[in-house]
Amino acid sequence: MEHSTPPIYTPADSSPTSLSSSALALPSSESLIYRRLAEHYLSAIHAGTLAPGARMPSVRELMRLHQVSLSTALQSLRHLETGGWLEARPRSGYFVRQPRRASLRPMDEPNFSRPLDSAQFVGIHEQVSEFISRRQQKPPAIDLSGMTCAPELYAADALKTAAMRALRDNPLLLTSVMPTNGNPQFRQVVARRALDNGVRISADEVVVTHGCIEALNLALRAVANAGDTIAVESPTYFGLLQTLESLGMRALEIPTSPQAGISIEALQLAFQTHANIKAVVVVPTLQNPLGCIMSDVHKQRLVEVCEQHHVALIEDDAYSELTDTEVPPAAAKAWDRSGNVIHCVSLNKVLAPGMRLGWISSGKWHERVKMLKFAHMRASEEWTQITAANYMASPAYDRHLRRLRATLKQQREQMSEAIAAYFPQQTRLNLPRGGIGLWIELPDGLCSKALFKAALEEGIGLSPGIIFSNSHRFDHYVRLSCGKPFTRELDQAIRRLGMLVTNLKKST
Ligand SMILES: Cc1ncc(COP(=O)(O)O)c(C=O)c1O
Repeated sequence: MEHSTPPIYTPADSSPTSLSSSALALPSSESLIYRRLAEHYLSAIHAGTLAPGARMPSVRELMRLHQVSLSTALQSLRHLETGGWLEARPRSGYFVRQPRRASLRPMDEPNFSRPLDSAQFVGIHEQVSEFISRRQQKPPAIDLSGMTCAPELYAADALKTAAMRALRDNPLLLTSVMPTNGNPQFRQVVARRALDNGVRISADEVVVTHGCIEALNLALRAVANAGDTIAVESPTYFGLLQTLESLGMRALEIPTSPQAGISIEALQLAFQTHANIKAVVVVPTLQNPLGCIMSDVHKQRLVEVCEQHHVALIEDDAYSELTDTEVPPAAAKAWDRSGNVIHCVSLNKVLAPGMRLGWISSGKWHERVKMLKFAHMRASEEWTQITAANYMASPAYDRHLRRLRATLKQQREQMSEAIAAYFPQQTRLNLPRGGIGLWIELPDGLCSKALFKAALEEGIGLSPGIIFSNSHRFDHYVRLSCGKPFTRELDQAIRRLGMLVTNLKKST
């Protein structure tokens, strides 16, 4: 039974937890009660009675103290969390957040009117190899370079149980020949989940891969040959540039907005001026490294333009399950009417990096992709697929995704606040609406390679902007991963990076 009386809270009041049940108004609806309860605690936060870092009463305590229902207690906590006043810490409850510190200016849009660079055979390999080997020679104590989450953010125990069940239920699994396109049960589960991204495919249209990188390799080889040109976002994921280089294809970098994604106008111009563009590769949701999310209108337009010009659209969908929203944005593939869109998906960021699972649904190139997969590596291991299918078909998977998204959101915010506090003012940053990474523009055109080297000396790893493009336009950017819990040690590492940037700035 929920109670009446208007909530009257003044700073002079005692602790908010002393608010009696009778201090809550009798609202006409439950939504009013939770708002009033939330306002009550918000006043306490404003008054400093609940200081930053203070633990909020638990759901049970709220129910008991204020005689409210479970859903009202939960809703009020979530309301405060959404407003940025509270943070949820896994298994510990809700805590009052530190007030937001100075925020950084967002990045400018690129110059869309500049002429396109010429399509290039990618020469990125050396840069990336240098970056990887330096990191391997001296592994950083705090590595913020990879787009991966800390292992403890994944459901390790549940996956172990699912793996044991897979082996118990299928005693000959490890000694049997694997189905070429993937385990049927797994393909069924992913086809079902694709519906949530607006993609209607049958299990037969799915080919299981070793993560997204194999899917991208297959897609590119299905639609293009060595010497052909592939239009890519600029900046783009360095792994794609490496892949293009390894396949002897040319990359044509298309200006890409840090807010809205690839420029369709620039792409159309490219189609008119370059004869042999065979594909466009895009990451519509949480682009790496920019973090931007394309609007539905933009995706639809992109699908139409590629279709009109008979250029394949390869959609890299490694991150859409990591957007802050409960329902992931629709994939561009959702607007595909002719089979011109090749959808490449990964479970490495969301389910488990150690299982290396992904898949491809390749529209009109399906038969060719099947052949290439078979020629390239026969089939992917079946036991990981059965394990994933067991787990993903259960409600535990959605609970895991919710937890992962919330944790990443919190880690991203903590990291960006630390950057705002410790980096020079002229640093620029767009806070993405999901994902694992932050793309940062260093002040005064500072060289990211110099920062990379200086940081590595101090035991801190980062990704220099230089590896995300064949041009030198992003040399003064860095990408930092937010996949690790934001500890005091991490805070100190960001502080140290801020000092390195300040020192480099002084010395230029
Ligand atoms: C945009 C993008 N595509 C593809 C990949 C590779 O994904 P996977 O690890 O599933 O092969 C990554 C990995 O970081 C990525 O950021």
